[in-house]
Amino acid sequence: MATSLDADVRPIIPDDIARVVIAPKSYTDDATIYGAFRWLREHMPLGIAQVPGYDPIWVVTKHADIKEVERNGKLFHNADHNPILVDQASDAFTREINGGSLRILSSLTYMDPPEHASYRTLTSNWFLPGKISKLEEQIRVLARQSVDNLLSFDGECDFVRDFALHYPLRVIMTLFGVPPEDEPRMLKLTQEFFGVHDPEEQRPEMAADPVVAAKQWAASIEDFYVYFDKLSAARREQPTDDLLSLIANSRINGAPIPRDEANGYYVAIATAGHDTTSSSTAGGLHGMMVYPENWAKVKADPSLIPGLVDEAIRWTSPVKHFMRNATADTQVRGMDIRAMDRLMICYPSGNRDEAVFADADRFDITRSPNPHIAFGFGPHMCLGQHLAKLEMRILFEELLPHLESVELAGDPRLVETNFVGGYKALPIRFKKS
Ligand code: HEM
Repeated sequence: MATSLDADVRPIIPDDIARVVIAPKSYTDDATIYGAFRWLREHMPLGIAQVPGYDPIWVVTKHADIKEVERNGKLFHNADHNPILVDQASDAFTREINGGSLRILSSLTYMDPPEHASYRTLTSNWFLPGKISKLEEQIRVLARQSVDNLLSFDGECDFVRDFALHYPLRVIMTLFGVPPEDEPRMLKLTQEFFGVHDPEEQRPEMAADPVVAAKQWAASIEDFYVYFDKLSAARREQPTDDLLSLIANSRINGAPIPRDEANGYYVAIATAGHDTTSSSTAGGLHGMMVYPENWAKVKADPSLIPGLVDEAIRWTSPVKHFMRNATADTQVRGMDIRAMDRLMICYPSGNRDEAVFADADRFDITRSPNPHIAFGFGPHMCLGQHLAKLEMRILFEELLPHLESVELAGDPRLVETNFVGGYKALPIRFKKS
């Protein structure tokens, strides 16, 4: 179908910039990706990327525009097309194996009004700050175990592999009721699920295939389904008070939640809930190593930890994009957007928008206010945001008193992804207090 994105009167983003924004590899290098976003915000805040092999898309880079698009869930849908940007070959493969549909997972991300609200309501209460705060002691026990583990290293470790990766996974799996012995399987699946473009995260037999991303997604989702089907059945037979039991025993329109939708929920929470948080935690420590005045401040005044958490999430922006699809002709920033146009919401760019954040590239835990959009905005805004912030606050509260100093012991490495990711390695040298 022809859309306004085909017309040559539209603002077309220069090829080199468009390729940077779309290529997963660009996200392994802050200077490259943030340089491209800076250029776009200044010269073409709402422009069209036309990269061969991909659908033409609007690239939304300004904080205000991202909020405007995300706020209106009826005008901008998630699920009329793929809510995640992949190449056309991968979308074609997904359609082929999925009965013509791109809805590969029946999770909140793949839903629009009114379906979205009816599913989100099932758990939104459980995730409210007042409810989540009751989990504080349970989470603190897990944080202490992780800190003890870090301190068992002799002054040097990889903060991601040896520490940040495991704790959020333990938290969400504990709240989910997944037994500890199954956590490595969950970790592996999540990394495959999100790290589909990173050669180190791919299943080897798929690395050379042009539809690798779609195949790996399908394989990861199937693995998750097999696992969660069993757990779901157990919770229906014997309900407990964990999150998985809540979902397994919930009802939609008076009937038990269908299998695909229950599994979609589990997969979304299992995957969204920890890679993002571990990357933000690593980003928080990295930020303080690059801008050490923050370390001195938070060591002297632990009441700055909530500010550290928010700044870590802004600065890291572990979710790189989601897509929206216009349902009707409309305008954003004076540009004509037509029904069926696709828009790429670039959270890391919005979070470095100089119109909102002074000295935006700088890591500053005293930044106030800090209206970042790393959790998105509007009806799809992150369901787990309060849990993520609580986990990170507790972890830093437990960790910081035990560390006298910390410094980089090698180059940090970032995951090759334009979707969800962040630190793959953060080598540190530390002195215990
Ligand atoms: C959605 C970011 C942690 C569960 C999202 C979205 C973003 C995001 C950007 C899409 C929002 C939008 O479309 O407007 C993050 C970040 C996290 C984090 C940066 C950590 C620092 C978590 C945690 C959980 C979680 C801990 C669950 C335990 C979800 C779910 C959705 C979501 C279920 C889909 C919501 C919907 O479509 O209605 N998150 N997230 N996230 N997140 Fe998170």
